[in-house]
Amino acid sequence: MLRGDDTPPGHRNRRTSPTAAAWPKPCGGMGTQHRSHPMKLLPLDRPDLIELVAGWLGKEENYKWLDFGNGVHTVTAVALKIMTQRELHLLRVYTPDDSDLPIGVCGLSNVDRRFKTAGSLWVVLGEKRYGGYASRAASKLLTIGFRELGLEAVGAWTVDVNAAARRGLERLNFTYIGRQRRCHWIDGRPYDRLLYDLLATEHRELDHD
Ligand SMILES: CC(C)(COP(=O)(O)OP(=O)(O)OC[C@H]1O[C@@H](n2cnc3c(N)ncnc32)[C@H](O)[C@@H]1OP(=O)(O)O)[C@@H](O)C(=O)NCCC(=O)NCCS
Repeated sequence: MLRGDDTPPGHRNRRTSPTAAAWPKPCGGMGTQHRSHPMKLLPLDRPDLIELVAGWLGKEENYKWLDFGNGVHTVTAVALKIMTQRELHLLRVYTPDDSDLPIGVCGLSNVDRRFKTAGSLWVVLGEKRYGGYASRAASKLLTIGFRELGLEAVGAWTVDVNAAARRGLERLNFTYIGRQRRCHWIDGRPYDRLLYDLLATEHRELDHD
């Protein structure tokens, strides 16, 4: 249920805000025209990439914010390989603008072709010194989801204290749709999750702003 009174600070609810159609600026201050070697999204189609990503997802600083369902906290390389082979997930590693180094991973999970939805968008920055690319990577993945998979709606959630993830979803134009209370546990403490969605018609790729 939409609870308009608990919209987190800084999160516009476009169902109530007439000014919210304004689109945020791309990150990094670099226009696309200046990128000689722009960021790439790469499929997880090699064992070394799968091992690398499994290593990132196995770190507490990352997995504490995620939930792979059925009580699964961390994803092993074997499980990740199976995920890449199923239509349920669309996974990509991303690079920075100036090299082919994989620095993070983004995913659309619980993809349902029949209902044209993806249950959740998520991102993990694996190489922490390369902050600043996650939102753009997620934006490109959304373009693939909406254009190539024909999705109509994508959901997302974040733990309420995860400021970076909240900011990222805001930049991606997601709409805040509600708060799921005391459902996410970190170090023995319950936290609320903030729920979001984005329609195909609301998506604008950040690099194309
Ligand atoms: C969330 C995460 C992917 C963000 O990576 P990133 O490369 O810093 O992301 P971006 O720079 O593209 O965008 C994040 C936005 O949040 C801001 N931000 C980054 N770290 C922040 C922090 N600790 N507190 C508040 N804001 C923060 C950035 O400045 C940016 O906002 P801006 O565009 O207004 O400058 C990364 O922190 C991470 O891997 N966290 C652990 C896993 C996780 O929480 N994933 C999200 C769950 S879906």
